[in-house]
Amino acid sequence: MSTILVEPNPTRMEAPALPQAEPCVMVIFGATGDLTRRKLMPALWNLKGEGCLEGLRILGVGRTHMTDDEFRTMMHDALAESERFDEEEWRKAAERIFYIWGELTEESTYQHTAQRLQEMAKDGASSNHLFYMATPPSLASAIVDGLGKAKLSQADEHGWSRLVVEKPFGSDLESARELNAKIAEVFSENQVFRIDHYLGKDTVQNILVFRFGNSMFEPIWNRNYVDYVEITAAEMAGVGSRAGYYEESGALRDMVANHLLQLLTLTAMEPPVAFDADSVREEKVQVLRSIRRLKPEEVAERTVRARYGPGEINGERVKGYREEQGVKEGSQTETYVAVEFRVSNWRWSDVPFYVRTGKHLGRNLTEIAVHLKRTPQALFARTPADMIEPNVIVLEIQPNEGIAVNFVTKRPGFEMQTTTVHMDFCYQRAFGVEPPAAYETLLLDVMSGDATLFTRGDEVEAQWRLITPIIEAWASQKKPELAEYPAGADGPPEADDLLARNGHQWRRLHESRGGCE
Ligand code: BG6
Repeated sequence: MSTILVEPNPTRMEAPALPQAEPCVMVIFGATGDLTRRKLMPALWNLKGEGCLEGLRILGVGRTHMTDDEFRTMMHDALAESERFDEEEWRKAAERIFYIWGELTEESTYQHTAQRLQEMAKDGASSNHLFYMATPPSLASAIVDGLGKAKLSQADEHGWSRLVVEKPFGSDLESARELNAKIAEVFSENQVFRIDHYLGKDTVQNILVFRFGNSMFEPIWNRNYVDYVEITAAEMAGVGSRAGYYEESGALRDMVANHLLQLLTLTAMEPPVAFDADSVREEKVQVLRSIRRLKPEEVAERTVRARYGPGEINGERVKGYREEQGVKEGSQTETYVAVEFRVSNWRWSDVPFYVRTGKHLGRNLTEIAVHLKRTPQALFARTPADMIEPNVIVLEIQPNEGIAVNFVTKRPGFEMQTTTVHMDFCYQRAFGVEPPAAYETLLLDVMSGDATLFTRGDEVEAQWRLITPIIEAWASQKKPELAEYPAGADGPPEADDLLARNGHQWRRLHESRGGCE
């Protein structure tokens, strides 16, 4: 297939300066954990480098006994490898980082936190408090309780109080409801920011800009023109050291219940009345409510679950999931899942939305492919009708960041022969700058009080309402059986059968070439 590259127009642009966050103390529960070192600190460091965090102080809270200085050294080491690290800058920043230790299940930890925040305020720290739960879900309820009892959840005339909750938010509908109810006892909804880091990705935010900032796509974005939609999130990495967590979660809870449903929702939602938190989230909830819940007998037909066996990734042999350290004997955990969803509303009736995700697949690729219907008549005699490929619009989320459109064109020559070409837009080439990391965008938004890119309480419940019947049917019936695919493959053959039933086909993981390559 030939490729036509879409050149930037307007020509390369400088990214606009980032806004200034409201000053605050960010209290991180679980401060010595992986998330703080791998995601939060690097994001904060980059935001600081952009000049966005003038009034920020950090208070780490964790169960490890440590002094402020020891915690600073730990954070220093987490950042020292990063490209933008600078020792001189770090020395100044480190003075604004503090630490206290305590069990997160004990009330005294929160009294101690409150006391330390008061002392910090006397030293000029802001009275705005951002509480970040970088902790396992099992601690969420205790933290919310503790904050409530220490009166840290209440905004007052001196400052605001906000709560950030990491995923997973519950493990099924019931636990998500319980957690929402617990949070609602202590915080009001506009203080709560439930993270789904996919929403912080520029390419994910661009789904709405692509759809609602252009007039040419929306008229065809419906059942009259769209044949089916494929949403893929494929990863080459296996479960690595996370088998403990993964054994409890599996691919369905880890990826489909949140990230993939978010991508589906943004693709299928109606235009919001305004681009603000309530209007956008209202429309997202409406789509989730329109998706049909699968009945137990449909789960057997419309879902595929599988796990990776031994195979080859990047030319190296890798072991199968069952051999990974920490995987239980007799484990039935899926590392791959594919589901056919139906959005039963006026716009999407009869259009299947297929989602798939898996670990140790042949390529890192996240994309949404919107397949349009065939033309109604085969006009070009020298090209048989089935050789004229239907148009596909591909929203490339990562690692390529762009948009690709396939369409049919005439081959050069005297005869009327056609071929499919590929038109590509690539962010990197068009704008010449890297988009901010998802956590940078999300942290800045929390500090500015903008909840548009966070999941609302009823939204997270609507997601679980779709996923819980699948979890239950998988547990109660043997179908579909857990299939296996060799590491490095596109997935199990059962996933191909899922689409073939409807005369559809997944794109091969290597098919998407993207304009950035
Ligand atoms: C996380 C999942 O939420 O998302 C991981 O727990 C997964 O299992 C990760 O690897 C994928 O995120 P990204 O941004 O790398 O696509």
